[in-house]
Amino acid sequence: MKHTILVTGASSGIGLLVANKLHQEGYQVIGTSRSPEKHQAKLPFKLLAVDLNDDRSIASLGKQLFSEIKTLDVLINNAGYLVNGLAEETPVELGKQQFETNFWGTIKLTNELLPYFRRQKHGKIITLGSLLGLVGLPYVAYYAASKHALEGYFKSLRFELNQFNIKVVMLEPMSFKTSIGESGTVAEGNIRDYDLFRKKITSYTKSTFDKAPEPAPVVAALLKAVKEKNPTFSYPVGKGSSIILLLQHFAYKIFEKSILKSINASK
Ligand SMILES: NC(=O)c1ccc[n+]([C@@H]2O[C@H](COP(=O)([O-])OP(=O)(O)OC[C@H]3O[C@@H](n4cnc5c(N)ncnc54)[C@H](OP(=O)(O)O)[C@@H]3O)[C@@H](O)[C@H]2O)c1
Repeated sequence: MKHTILVTGASSGIGLLVANKLHQEGYQVIGTSRSPEKHQAKLPFKLLAVDLNDDRSIASLGKQLFSEIKTLDVLINNAGYLVNGLAEETPVELGKQQFETNFWGTIKLTNELLPYFRRQKHGKIITLGSLLGLVGLPYVAYYAASKHALEGYFKSLRFELNQFNIKVVMLEPMSFKTSIGESGTVAEGNIRDYDLFRKKITSYTKSTFDKAPEPAPVVAALLKAVKEKNPTFSYPVGKGSSIILLLQHFAYKIFEKSILKSINASK
């Protein structure tokens, strides 16, 4: 019997690709979206309604899900979005919303399903972090902070769930082509001191999105994490991610200089 897998944010991007791929491979896949009615007709797997910003919708997920399935083998915490903007120019309210969805929403949804996992005495929780959960870059301070927070939380949770045979994994992709650039929020700044840097970083960000590769490697890494019996905690994904991590840990000044050089070269 192939496993049963819940993929949050399965209407678009990485979630949609991985849910389709798992379905093709014979897994029983259930996805989520804030508006399942908009997407269900095009999808070969069932979509449930979940909004990570709505406690009531998260609180009803367990019952809804287990009326469809008997056991849940894997939860893929994929849903999330991106707030772009220079840190000082981003209203704190936007930062709080970023945490409400990416961090708190993901934690609340995980907590809703943990009693079922504990009862089963097995399960796997795979969360989409980001390389920006391990590395900081300009123009994404709140996004990076929300992903760093997930790293810390799930690193601790992994120890606590080990006794129940529940594995905890983070995936940390670099930039890949999805809707995340368009579906997110941009904080438009107006502090004059930042004018030149803002111009360069927005152009650098746009060219990073334009040049980003298709997300096939993320899907492959997710499949690997799903199939691995004893997965490790961290799965960085993307060309050059191991070099970036190496520089960040052992040669931070070189890492910083190379990032600033690329931003300054942007027009
Ligand atoms: N693309 C990248 O370069 C990249 C890199 C590193 C990490 N990631 C992470 O990968 C995950 C997927 O991103 P993506 O690039 O595939 O983006 P995407 O194409 O914009 O897809 C985002 C998904 O999240 C769902 N979602 C957004 N806000 C939600 C909310 N409040 N409640 C419930 N669902 C919500 C959306 O579903 P509905 O709109 O249907 O509700 C959608 O299915 C995110 O966690 C992102 O941070 C992406």
